[in-house]
Amino acid sequence: MTRYVTASITKKKTEGVLPVMEGTMGPDAVDITSMYSQQGILAFDPGFRSTASCQSAITFVDGEKGILLYRGYPIEQLAEKASYLEVVYLLMFGELPTQEEMDIFRQRVTHFNMLHEQVLDFYKGFRRDAHPMAVMVGVVGALSAFYHDHMDINDPEQRINAAIRLVAKMPMIAASSYNYNIGAPHRYPRNALGYGANFLHMMFGMPSEDYVVEPVLARAMESIFILHADHEQNASTSTVRLAASSGANPFACIAAGIASLWGPAHGGANEAVLSMLGEIGSVKNIPKAIARAKDKNDSFRLMGFGHRVYKNFDPRSRVIQKTAREVLDYLGTDDPMLEIAMRLEEIALSDEYFIERKLYPNVDFYSGILLKAMKFPTTMFTAIFALARTSGWVSQWLELHNQGNHGIDRPRQLYVGKPTRDYPNK
Ligand code: CMC
Repeated sequence: MTRYVTASITKKKTEGVLPVMEGTMGPDAVDITSMYSQQGILAFDPGFRSTASCQSAITFVDGEKGILLYRGYPIEQLAEKASYLEVVYLLMFGELPTQEEMDIFRQRVTHFNMLHEQVLDFYKGFRRDAHPMAVMVGVVGALSAFYHDHMDINDPEQRINAAIRLVAKMPMIAASSYNYNIGAPHRYPRNALGYGANFLHMMFGMPSEDYVVEPVLARAMESIFILHADHEQNASTSTVRLAASSGANPFACIAAGIASLWGPAHGGANEAVLSMLGEIGSVKNIPKAIARAKDKNDSFRLMGFGHRVYKNFDPRSRVIQKTAREVLDYLGTDDPMLEIAMRLEEIALSDEYFIERKLYPNVDFYSGILLKAMKFPTTMFTAIFALARTSGWVSQWLELHNQGNHGIDRPRQLYVGKPTRDYPNK
């Protein structure tokens, strides 16, 4: 039975009913799609704090309870038991694969994991110290030039091919942006390795010698990828969907998502965490940093703390905190930056300001620490997030197209500029 809410629009002295839509879990949504045509009034929600921009069956987040589900499966279980490619399959197709489906899927990903040699030439156009995210925006966008003419996004099978291509190529795209930075030769994938291990091999191996991937680090890599794979309608995913709504090429849509992810309030936060720890410099400076974060006249924020949706705890941060400790123990890392991070976490968690505002360490706080321990340069942190999130982006892109054409996304605005006026006679 359809439920309705009564909406009184006082300025226009009208009252109407609006249907309520129910999801499987989470808050219901008032359907306001006909509000403007019937009442001539718009909804105002900058920042989308009260807006469901689409229907989606991929990821569920309950920020109050600290729940994150991919296709119904809790993130904690997936991070512990699944491989990243299994999760990619789940996100894309809705169910966990059988062994046979997994074997075929792995083969398809492997088939597409190389980059066209001409794509490698693009890298040479960048300054050698270019940020890997800048390179990734450029290179992924440029792939649309390679796969545009024979790509028909109205054909479901071609859409799946494009999605698999993106997931398959992203490790080499990311690793190559780092290798270019340090002047090392591009490394090609090794098909005998798993997805995470292969990325480590392309990052840290050398063509001149065998690189043995340590299983603890390969598993940590897969876990990082799984935790970052999707997160419902966040800024970068919404960017991908918005770009896709115009029928844009999938590689261009994902390049738009990478650009959106780069910002320090989103995927750039794990890099910002490390810069902040560097600035703090020593445990004795932590109280000064906490005081600055609390000062309304200071724009400084504790990077890696707080989340738009999680107002209790971030379930991803619990998993990654455990992985970070395991990897640090395994590597026997003794890094003063890590000591600052652990102390900062302890102090912030017992401070009234952070408790009152429900500001907890988010996934990026620990992923920064973990990636540093695994010897990733800070500039690669967000690139790794982009690599992992590609599976979420392509799944959301596929879902949007599978839902049929709802038309181009076109938000409206509340105009606050000058009213109509005449050009002066001179
Ligand atoms: N340090 C100090 N104060 C903070 C912080 C912080 N990191 N985050 C929020 N606050 C304060 C903020 O000043 C405000 O205080 P008041 O109510 O007195 O004005 C209150 O907490 C609410 O802040 P908000 O900006 O309204 O919260 P939001 O939901 O819009 O922002 C956020 C969420 C993640 C952008 C923000 O917490 C932040 O900037 N955190 C640091 C950056 C970060 O770690 N981002 C990674 C997010 S997780 C990865 C991802 O999903 O992309």
